[in-house]
Amino acid sequence: MPTDITQLAHPIDVMYLIHKAIRAEARRTRQAAEHLAIGGNFKPFMDDFYRWAMALGFHEEAEYKYVLPLVPDLPSARYHEGGHKALLVGLEDLQRCLHEELGHTIVIPRTQRQLVGKVIALLIAQADLLEEEEERLLPVLRQHLGEAEQLDIARRLLFDPESEDEQWMLDWVAQHLTEAECHALADLVARFEPDSSSLIEESGDDSRVPDAAQTAVTDEDLVLLAAKTADGYPIDVMYLLHKALNIEAWRTVSIAERLDVGESLHPFVQAFESWEKALTFHADQEDVYMTPLLSTSPLARDNEESHQRLAHRMDEIRTYLQEVGEEAVVTTRIRRRLFGHVVALRMDQEDHLEEEEELVLPMIRERLSIAQQIEIVRRLLLALETEDPTWVVTWLMHDLTDTERKTLLALTARLASTPPALVAAVV
Ligand SMILES: [Fe+2]
Ligand SMILES: [Fe+2]
Ligand SMILES: [Fe+2]
Repeated sequence: MPTDITQLAHPIDVMYLIHKAIRAEARRTRQAAEHLAIGGNFKPFMDDFYRWAMALGFHEEAEYKYVLPLVPDLPSARYHEGGHKALLVGLEDLQRCLHEELGHTIVIPRTQRQLVGKVIALLIAQADLLEEEEERLLPVLRQHLGEAEQLDIARRLLFDPESEDEQWMLDWVAQHLTEAECHALADLVARFEPDSSSLIEESGDDSRVPDAAQTAVTDEDLVLLAAKTADGYPIDVMYLLHKALNIEAWRTVSIAERLDVGESLHPFVQAFESWEKALTFHADQEDVYMTPLLSTSPLARDNEESHQRLAHRMDEIRTYLQEVGEEAVVTTRIRRRLFGHVVALRMDQEDHLEEEEELVLPMIRERLSIAQQIEIVRRLLLALETEDPTWVVTWLMHDLTDTERKTLLALTARLASTPPALVAAVV
């Protein structure tokens, strides 16, 4: 990290200034712990610690909400989620310990040592995480996010709309900066829209989706797939289906995140129901028509079990919606809970789809005949037992590029020209 940051070439570089302030506050907290007077109380430490904890907690939460969903799913950008969680758990643990154990006692050498130890552990976890973010995440964000998106993130990292004093974070960061850095920060803030949340809403249509949601399959893969699926492995249509499921997830998470307090829950319910319907149908069809053909494979059984976990997550959301009532208006608590639920479902879904692509699809290509694959695809694309058997194709078309649509049409034509066949399970 540069020592004096006087220019923010990219708005996202404001992260360096925020991190600088967080590091400075952390050092001060450590000193406060080390300099506690034996026989005195913990108050001098607590004031520093709470300032640090508040800023770090706010920063981590804002990043989790506003930055991570925009990170493209590249190996170089895989965010260290474990580190993120460990840090928050460490913070909470220390807070609890101060509150319940140390807060009301006098300082003795043993408790002071304990406290210094916990603070240092947190400092280390924090140093790792901030460093990793600067080295791995920032270059990717600079490259992949446009200026308007970066400005919007910067605003969310500096302003807290839920606090009475919206700019407490901005003021706190500025306290830790040099004069030149303060100027750079002020110049950046001057570029913020009065309320740039509209920025996101305006561009929140499907054309903006090519973030994490669309990267399950790259464009290049899909061109290859187009060539392949027309006369290659029919099962590869799975990539298109998974892509559309990822987009549904992305859409629902974005809506949950942007629900306005006091407004209706309906936009969320609608998005969630569309996702739930597609995912439930997809998983059910796989359980009935796909994995039973791999009757001896433990990986196929794992895949079925993993569908159950997804179903369980969906049930949880359903139950929660019933609890609050679909006519309820949005509160910050409801928004937080829904957001948490759908982020969890989205992550589980991503894990599942990725595993299926990596572990199950190769087996299908290798062990199942083209005729068997076509039968699976027929069941994945057509809801034959329902009144509207082509809803899946209609749903799927919506989120595809032109090339992908052509691929799908070629495949559908192939399905039409191949009458349903009875296919035997292979061992
Ligand atoms: Fe950060
Ligand atoms: Fe699948
Ligand atoms: Fe699946």
